[in-house]
Amino acid sequence: MHKNIKQKFKSLYGGEPTLFRSPGRINLLGEHTDYNEGYVLPAAIDKEIICAIAPNGMPVIRLHALDLGNSFEIEVDKIKPTDSGWANYILGVAAQYRKMGVTIQGFDAVFGGDIPLGAGLSSSAALECAFAYALDQLWNTQLQKLEMVKMAQMAEHEYAGVKCGIMDQFASMFGKKDHVIQLDCRSLDYSHFKIALHDFELILCDSHVKHSLTSSAYNERREQCEEGTRILKGQFPEINSLRDVKPEQLIAMKEAVDPLVYKRCSYVVHENLRVLKAVEMLDADDLKGFGELMYTTHHGLSIDYEVSCPELDFLVNFTETLEFVLGSRMMGGGFGGCSINIVKSSQVEEFIDKISKAYKQNTGIDMSAYRVKIENGTSKISE
Ligand code: GLA
Repeated sequence: MHKNIKQKFKSLYGGEPTLFRSPGRINLLGEHTDYNEGYVLPAAIDKEIICAIAPNGMPVIRLHALDLGNSFEIEVDKIKPTDSGWANYILGVAAQYRKMGVTIQGFDAVFGGDIPLGAGLSSSAALECAFAYALDQLWNTQLQKLEMVKMAQMAEHEYAGVKCGIMDQFASMFGKKDHVIQLDCRSLDYSHFKIALHDFELILCDSHVKHSLTSSAYNERREQCEEGTRILKGQFPEINSLRDVKPEQLIAMKEAVDPLVYKRCSYVVHENLRVLKAVEMLDADDLKGFGELMYTTHHGLSIDYEVSCPELDFLVNFTETLEFVLGSRMMGGGFGGCSINIVKSSQVEEFIDKISKAYKQNTGIDMSAYRVKIENGTSKISE
């Protein structure tokens, strides 16, 4: 793949580019907890964005999206959000550099990749991180990875209009082969732990229902969590986010909180507790227990948080009758994208065959399955 990207760069702009890569992510547990200062368990995967980049000595940024066959150009002092969806992620990152006082110098870049779009695998975070990292090297700004992660997140807020948490960008940048990241989204303390799946594998089922996080539902969930926090803080001043809320405190405030906001908060409070329990289970090699938590999370996301959809519910519910599946749930922001499943290695083919047929019969849609491997985070590609 990176040969094509380099080739395209040479034919469009000439010269020798430097190549960088940044992966998509999965999340084992801890959904919609990141912007509530809670816990998450993501990992970077073997699907990535690759960019080829070089300075051009002109006051202009020239970009080409290989997979879309689409080009974009802008003068460096005119950077602002545009109508070109994909360019916004890159311009948003460049704008963060400008905010830091870095002089934006012109560059050319071609990018492409194999992260399916709209599948909830964070192709946008991968794009942002690839460029945050590439521009740091291009302009020799010597930033820390965590600074770049925060810049990538801000690019999403300011140029894509999604008030996302930090999980996707963090996972893309800090991923480690065969390890899951246990991240505390308040302190940003993290550790990598090796996940032992034994004779099981992680399989993603892509519903091919496209979610649009920008479509306000995501930001609305975030606002509902903030509203709940405000009301709870009135009674319990030590509460600064849903991360601080104990289930009994929430129950005590049931009458004071709007019923819909209550449901949202209840999901988040319990999801945080589930992640802590999940880590203990993984430590104890209890994959079965972990799988059960995945189902509980899914039901919370579907019923209380209301970010699932009939197609994802079908994919998850279908697995409950299959004894070789330990756990399943919708993954990511929701409203489409993938479910993540823990499936016995020897029966992966049978699984994919059965679930694809049933899904097609039920929804009329062709499902895709991805056998994902856990990979390293953002890096320069040395050839
Ligand atoms: C999207 C956001 C993340 C996170 C997840 C839900 O992927 O970008 O920050 O909130 O949804 O867990």
